[in-house]
Amino acid sequence: MTLEKKEAVQLDWENLGFSYIKTDIRYVATWKDGKWDEGILTEDNQISISEGSPVIHYGQSCFEGLKAYRTKSGEVQLFRPEENAKRMQRSCRRLLMPEVSEEQFLSAVKEVVKANERFIPPYGTGGTLYLRPYVMGVGDSIGVAPANEYIFGVFAIPVGAYFKGGLTPTSFIISEYDRAASQGTGGVKVGGNYASSLLPGKEAKQRSFSDCIYLDPATHTKIEEVGAANFFAITKDGRFVTPDSPSILPSITKYSLLYLAEHALGMPVAQEDIYVSQLDLYEEAGACGTAAVISPIAGIQHGDNYHVFYSETEVGPVTRKLYDLLTAIQFGDKEAPEGWITKVL
Ligand SMILES: Cc1ncc(COP(=O)(O)O)c(C=O)c1O
Repeated sequence: MTLEKKEAVQLDWENLGFSYIKTDIRYVATWKDGKWDEGILTEDNQISISEGSPVIHYGQSCFEGLKAYRTKSGEVQLFRPEENAKRMQRSCRRLLMPEVSEEQFLSAVKEVVKANERFIPPYGTGGTLYLRPYVMGVGDSIGVAPANEYIFGVFAIPVGAYFKGGLTPTSFIISEYDRAASQGTGGVKVGGNYASSLLPGKEAKQRSFSDCIYLDPATHTKIEEVGAANFFAITKDGRFVTPDSPSILPSITKYSLLYLAEHALGMPVAQEDIYVSQLDLYEEAGACGTAAVISPIAGIQHGDNYHVFYSETEVGPVTRKLYDLLTAIQFGDKEAPEGWITKVL
């Protein structure tokens, strides 16, 4: 389609939340007869699907989340989008859905960024253009079996902070629910994981916590995820650590922080068990993810116990350094490790 140049949009760029805004253009491709078509860019944000679609009944769906960043000189760049493409392929394999090639994924994402340029927040506002690729099983179907047709789509929304506090520490509560089974789907980004997290998340928020923290499903002794973000901590002896478990979503932000803590800050790093009974070992703690960026954790409620890390009101020094470094790379203020940045505009 030919894209007409539209007027600039006036949004409150400094105070964007994380909510749906209908932007100009999205990408939609269909898989039928054994292959993906090349997809279209469309203004239509409605999708019509069969009532028999496996996505409706059996949750055959997965998604990704990544961001486009406006740099100081006005360019637009993506942060490690190949990693999202690869993770979406792993999610598709787990749910017997056809994989989208890395090439088609990247091309769709870039086209959607370009077509919605007027929604990319200005540099310095902290806002970004969040991209939401997804794959779902559709078509006339009813038995518990993989779909015979699929949709791959990508849309974009301008976003600000996901957890309201930004770099202000907030509190979390240990959930009594499990997010994922030990050998289940916790390690992939599939819709069902999130449907089952809604009630635990709601109960945490009703008690004034930012979200809940899930423990490992087998023993309920080790920290796994912080809502829809990974957990990290700085030990009292200065190591950067994150939990190690197959039921945690492999966060691209987490792997980036592991690299930066080791190579830029010279810290020892490890993926290891983090026992909820041993929180005294940690000086600082945080949640990390594309949406969450880095959100410092003030304290954790576990049963009747409330454990405070560095401070209830101030971000700790290592968490701040990591946040500054990561966001400087994402917004183009600092040179990124080789291969982390893809220029779009
Ligand atoms: C459950 C869960 N954990 C962690 C993350 C963070 O992953 P990433 O850093 O790749 O965004 C996300 C968000 O994608 C998530 O949904």
